Amino acid sequence: MSTNDITAARHELAAARRCVVLTGAGMSAESGVPTFRDALTGLWSAFDPERLASREGFAADPHLVWRWYAERRQGASNARPNAGHLALVGLEARFEQFAIVTQNVDGLHTRAGSRDVLELHGNIVRTKCFAECGVRIDDPRDLPPGEPPACPRCGHWLRPDVVWFGEMLDAEVLERAERLAASCDAMLVVGTSGLVYPAAGLPSLARAAGARVIIVNPNPTELDDLADIVVRDTAARALPALFAAT
Ligand code: APR
Repeated sequence: MSTNDITAARHELAAARRCVVLTGAGMSAESGVPTFRDALTGLWSAFDPERLASREGFAADPHLVWRWYAERRQGASNARPNAGHLALVGLEARFEQFAIVTQNVDGLHTRAGSRDVLELHGNIVRTKCFAECGVRIDDPRDLPPGEPPACPRCGHWLRPDVVWFGEMLDAEVLERAERLAASCDAMLVVGTSGLVYPAAGLPSLARAAGARVIIVNPNPTELDDLADIVVRDTAARALPALFAAT
């Protein structure tokens, strides 16, 4: 593993034909969206995740959980894509295959203009029926503000369309993400602590398939030993440098 070798990382990415970018909360840190585990700003340091991000937590106190997500939704909609998000836009044209697999629910990759974005953990803007009757609402402006609204079809609560602790990921999205990881020749892993599976298992899939793995993170992560190159820098600084036209 070599560290901070931007030139080597640029060379690997320039030689790649099929690239997957796996992103985590650190990708949006420079857009002002708090990460989950950073000691100072991590959301989880202020809340008990089981209480706020699980079916049991929502059923126990739907009003608290709904208000927390409404606040996070507001934070995400006020945030703007940063230079890291923007550096990834348009790369579809440079590779035979290019996709972004994100753990983030803030929608910033799509708002930046990236086209092929797989949202492994859902999207905080979308809302769905807690009773799983099939209702999904894409635009929160269609929802009454304040307390959890009632499902227009079955009358149960509506809930954020995100993957909660203890819930399964969307099988189709995960299967596609795993297929992309197993067939890429370069995986860029940006802004994730690599603690939460199955997302954290994707770099191993890529490596097993012979892909070069490049990590961008200002701090050490669980995935560093898997990487061919680690760039100890932030997303908004490193990504423009990695993809700047030669
Ligand atoms: N640029 C790049 N990386 C950064 C930056 C930055 N500006 N700032 C922080 N980081 C890194 C941190 O060093 C850390 O490794 O981002 C990572 C954030 O890690 P987490 O807070 O654990 O977020 P993430 O890895 O996305 O968590 C995965 O856990 O709670 C669940 O569903 C939630 O999707 C989330 C999943």
